[in-house]
Amino acid sequence: MNKEYMQQAQRLQELWRQSSASGSYTVSGAPINAVESKTNSSTPVHAPANASSQNKALSDPLIYPGIYAPSGFDMMGILIRVRQRPNPTIDIGSIDSSVSLVLCDPERHDIPIVYCSETFEALTGYNSADILSRNCRFLQQPPRDRAVKLEARHQHEIRKTNDIARKELKERFARNEEAQVKLVNFMRDGRMFVNLLTVIPILWDDESGSGKKKRYFVGFMGDTSKRAGF
Ligand SMILES: Cc1cc2nc3c(=O)[nH]c(=O)nc-3n(C[C@H](O)[C@H](O)[C@H](O)COP(=O)(O)O)c2cc1C
Repeated sequence: MNKEYMQQAQRLQELWRQSSASGSYTVSGAPINAVESKTNSSTPVHAPANASSQNKALSDPLIYPGIYAPSGFDMMGILIRVRQRPNPTIDIGSIDSSVSLVLCDPERHDIPIVYCSETFEALTGYNSADILSRNCRFLQQPPRDRAVKLEARHQHEIRKTNDIARKELKERFARNEEAQVKLVNFMRDGRMFVNLLTVIPILWDDESGSGKKKRYFVGFMGDTSKRAGF
């Protein structure tokens, strides 16, 4: 490796050590060591990334493990698996890294959310810290402090729409099939929207290196309210 690069790397490492010890240097308002520990500790032990093993192998202090994926999740890996799935039955059109998505674990009780994209947070108004480990159905109700009394016929319509969609989802999940439904959902501030939800099952290498594959459900969300007539 280039000598000048290595010297600079050592200088940076020293600077880091000093700043961590004094706690005086900050990055985006957080102490540098806090940023460092966040990126390392949030690396999930499962699915995406393979980041934990990569992190151990990295000794170059100029490389900041996880800096481009603070959640530790390999978002592009998820999209690639969706794009390259062997037998697609639903045309989801173009997808890019700005998509609103969640990753859920069907092998755990009640299919909890294990990852959500920033766009999902922007669409719904919920922070990932509020929603990780929960089932996505919480979106079918406004938060208690934001509940608005709807006319009875609207309530009926919403319940009917969501009952049909939920039944369809559960039947498809049980068969490990792709699903696409419209659900009436609510944002954190109580606003209603019609969510075009597409759920795609994907497989991911088990982290243990056993060669086994682990199943996940990827959910894509889009607000279609303006076209839905509600
Ligand atoms: C990956 C994934 C994403 C989901 N996204 C949503 C969503 O955005 N909004 C929603 O109302 N339900 C969503 N669901 C569906 C609910 O989690 C749940 O499966 C559905 O309400 C049916 O189950 P239930 O009748 O037990 O509630 C999603 C499910 C999965 C697996």
